[in-house]
Amino acid sequence: MRPACSLSIVSFAALVLGDSHYFFSGFFAGSTIVGVEFDDATSTLSLVNNITTKATSGSKWIAIDERKRNVYVGTTGYVQSYAVTANMSLEYVSQITLSASCQNANYLTAASTSPYTVFAAAYSTGCPAQAIAVDDSGALQSSVADLTYSNSSGVHGLDLSSDNGFVYSADDMGNAVWVHSYDSTSQTAEEIQYLAAPSGANPRHLAAHPDGQWVYVVYEEANSLAVYKRDNATGLLTDMNTTYSLLPSGYTNTSNYWADEAKFSIPVFNSSTASPKYLITGTRSRSTSSPGYISAFALDASTGAITEQLFITPSTASGGSANAVSPAPFSEEYFAITDSGSNFVEMWRIADDATSAAAVAHLGLSAGPANVVWVS
Ligand SMILES: *[C@@H]1O[C@H](CO)[C@@H](O)[C@H](O)[C@H]1NC(C)=O
Ligand SMILES: *[C@@H]1O[C@H](CO)[C@@H](O)[C@H](O)[C@H]1NC(C)=O
Ligand SMILES: *[C@@H]1O[C@H](CO)[C@@H](O)[C@H](O)[C@H]1NC(C)=O
Ligand SMILES: *[C@@H]1O[C@H](CO)[C@@H](O)[C@H](O)[C@H]1NC(C)=O
Ligand SMILES: *[C@@H]1O[C@H](CO)[C@@H](O)[C@H](O)[C@H]1NC(C)=O
Ligand SMILES: *[C@@H]1O[C@H](CO)[C@@H](O)[C@H](O)[C@H]1NC(C)=O
Ligand SMILES: *[C@@H]1O[C@H](CO)[C@@H](O)[C@H](O)[C@H]1NC(C)=O
Repeated sequence: MRPACSLSIVSFAALVLGDSHYFFSGFFAGSTIVGVEFDDATSTLSLVNNITTKATSGSKWIAIDERKRNVYVGTTGYVQSYAVTANMSLEYVSQITLSASCQNANYLTAASTSPYTVFAAAYSTGCPAQAIAVDDSGALQSSVADLTYSNSSGVHGLDLSSDNGFVYSADDMGNAVWVHSYDSTSQTAEEIQYLAAPSGANPRHLAAHPDGQWVYVVYEEANSLAVYKRDNATGLLTDMNTTYSLLPSGYTNTSNYWADEAKFSIPVFNSSTASPKYLITGTRSRSTSSPGYISAFALDASTGAITEQLFITPSTASGGSANAVSPAPFSEEYFAITDSGSNFVEMWRIADDATSAAAVAHLGLSAGPANVVWVS
């Protein structure tokens, strides 16, 4: 598959790439997390590290800190922290034990600024999310605050405002979006808004734009992306009653699909202030014989508003329980996808004219991957 040398120099020169990059992938079952290298000159993915963790019942969601020193793992009953070692492996450091009725650790996100608080959600009815304090190295120390919902809630996704002062929660079982403020000095969380979602929506994951003016919500059951305006001073949201379908037009069989993920591309230079070019989504097919769908949206560089839905293209396979997209830190055009129906990870690339995207590298795995986090 390696292209001839001269061809590779010509076709990749314009990208100013030529490096190898590294990510970790978690799995829905088992205790392995893998380390994978992507060579952008040859477009190849290689499994370079099989890491045995203490997460014996899978690593359903993993997150990495801003400093790329720690990987946090959600597994049944625990949220664990692992140090990223010099040889790109993971070394277990500590864990938080979850309560008996909230064992299903399913989503994690880490604050981008000191004190680097980690937020964790367990996907079971009535469970609060937790704010977890970390020590100087970033290792999990203790749960310091609960973010409470209603007793019919089941929160599946979280995101933070760019100053980490507000937490947005996608309540899939309770069909709602919640807003909490979080004060990292007093270590207190307060519910400030509950927004019921339209009937049959079921918010799963969401993405708060770093410029502060928009939050985009994946409606899992409706297979659509919903637009919420954000007040940058109060953190409060307004449902704009605007949705974009994440399936091709004419598909009325939405119950055969379940939309999954929305993530912003990562600006390569000065990522703390620059505005992402794209919002990229993954939707799963419930049948392993039909593909899921990948879509991307162009975003206004100064406001973060959606200017255009660029494409809706089939993924290589169904996605299984995953089709979790993870944008690369080295180019806004590249993102990784996990597929737990056919057991692989892929690298995808958005075309130069942004009207399409396609897989550029494929790596078969021996189990079903959940999501990946990029180290470099
Ligand atoms: C990782 O494990 C898989 C199978 O479980 C094996 O095929 C592969 O060679 C291993 N890779 C490394 C780098 O250890
Ligand atoms: C990586 O480094 C750790 C110590 O930080 C060591 O325990 C482990 O054996 C090393 N792994 C490999 C594959 O060299
Ligand atoms: C929620 O909890 C309250 C108080 O414990 C209880 O009265 C109510 O029935 C519960 N509702 C549901 C939907 O479980
Ligand atoms: C939104 O608020 C953040 C934090 O207070 C600030 O850094 C940012 O510049 C604000 N954005 C806009 C568009 O006003
Ligand atoms: C969205 O629809 C609701 C219910 O019809 C309405 O109350 C609200 O004003 C609408 N929001 C906007 C921003 O138009
Ligand atoms: C959903 O409907 C579309 C259009 O008729 C069809 O192409 C597709 O295969 C269907 N998907 C599933 C999972 O049945
Ligand atoms: C990023 O951009 C901001 C605003 O233009 C600037 O103040 C800051 O120094 C830049 N940071 C880096 C690392 O270039």
